[in-house]
Amino acid sequence: MELKLILTVLVVLFSTVIADDYVRPPPRKTLHFPWDPKPTLNPQQVHVSLAGKKHMRVTWITDKSAPSTVEYGKSRGRYDAVAKGESTSYRYFLYKSGKIHHAVIGPLEDNSVYFYRCGGKGPELQLKTPPARFPISFAVAGDLGQSGWTNSTLDHIKQCNHDVLLLPGDLSYADYLQHHWDTFGRLVQPLASARPWMVTQGNHEIEKIPLLKEGFVSYNARWEMPSEESGSSSNLYYSFEVAGVHIIMLGSYADYDVYSPQYQWLKGDLSKVNRKRTPWLLAVFHVPWYNSNKAHQGEGDDMMKAMEPLLYAARVDLVFNGHVHAYERTKRVYNGKLDGCGAVHIIIGDGGNREGLSSKYIYPQPKWSEFREASFGHGQFKIVNSSHAFWSWHKNQNDESVKSDEIWITSLSNSGCVNHRPI
Ligand SMILES: [Fe+2]
Repeated sequence: MELKLILTVLVVLFSTVIADDYVRPPPRKTLHFPWDPKPTLNPQQVHVSLAGKKHMRVTWITDKSAPSTVEYGKSRGRYDAVAKGESTSYRYFLYKSGKIHHAVIGPLEDNSVYFYRCGGKGPELQLKTPPARFPISFAVAGDLGQSGWTNSTLDHIKQCNHDVLLLPGDLSYADYLQHHWDTFGRLVQPLASARPWMVTQGNHEIEKIPLLKEGFVSYNARWEMPSEESGSSSNLYYSFEVAGVHIIMLGSYADYDVYSPQYQWLKGDLSKVNRKRTPWLLAVFHVPWYNSNKAHQGEGDDMMKAMEPLLYAARVDLVFNGHVHAYERTKRVYNGKLDGCGAVHIIIGDGGNREGLSSKYIYPQPKWSEFREASFGHGQFKIVNSSHAFWSWHKNQNDESVKSDEIWITSLSNSGCVNHRPI
């Protein structure tokens, strides 16, 4: 009888384990890269980003003798145009970076493949420019790092047909060890040299040492974004337009109070948004304002207090954040309450960093929180037309990409919310 009871308990326990829908895997180790103290002459760490209408910025690293030129054209091996750029480098104690080149190419045709070569030699690469009109597709991944899970995320992004990648902060997790910026650059080159990567900063980009090193030395040198092109005086915040979308990239680690340059720039930038030209309005920054995970609770409160009224008045459709190593999607919300004219907030800080997942949540789940799960993965945002877009979250289940959350989102510009309140 006792044996029967024990067996029954074991069967119940076993079936409970089986019924549990998903057993979360542990963090994966940081990838091993062969030691390469000096960048070779071959261009390496190539990535591209959007740089104003019909232009793209190509960034790459070489040793000190290579020129800052990009040859490009629409046929393999035939370069009809050449762009000359500039270069920079930096020191970080004993570390000396290679020559970091930035060159802007264009005007480029929309939705077209270009072949290009950096520095007059080296391998031919190819990129595709985004479309001028809908549909357009974004891949979204934050807190990437360079672990085994990062590899998995990058593999899945490679498989998804995207035009632009959005990265809401925390790129390399170099954390002061500068050669990790180089290994990260090489890790992402296959994707980042083929489609524009539009990034904003996270806390792992700061690398500030009081009295010795100012912040963002490496990030600003390596990941130059179109701040000048969008009227911003800082690489930490900027905006860009692609197809029918206006995207604001904000800085969680730049001043954001009402007297700050970032706030003033944001106000001016939003006032120029024309929802007839860009029916969709998105914002991307690192530290979330709506987060029901126990990790990083309240860290975004001050920025939210300062800037959420501006984003709400402008009718921002969607906000993408990172920082919390998990996935969460909200309903439309403003000022902590459900609001049909507020933004949908999505935390996608689950790219694969070495610190692992943030698995503890606040209960009960807030009313504004629609879906939350601590798993590694990435997101895809496909804007079909001026009124409809499809969001999906794909988690890295046992290295397979599994679509685990999906929703159709309608734009605020078609909802009667737009132009109700002046900024
Ligand atoms: Fe972070």
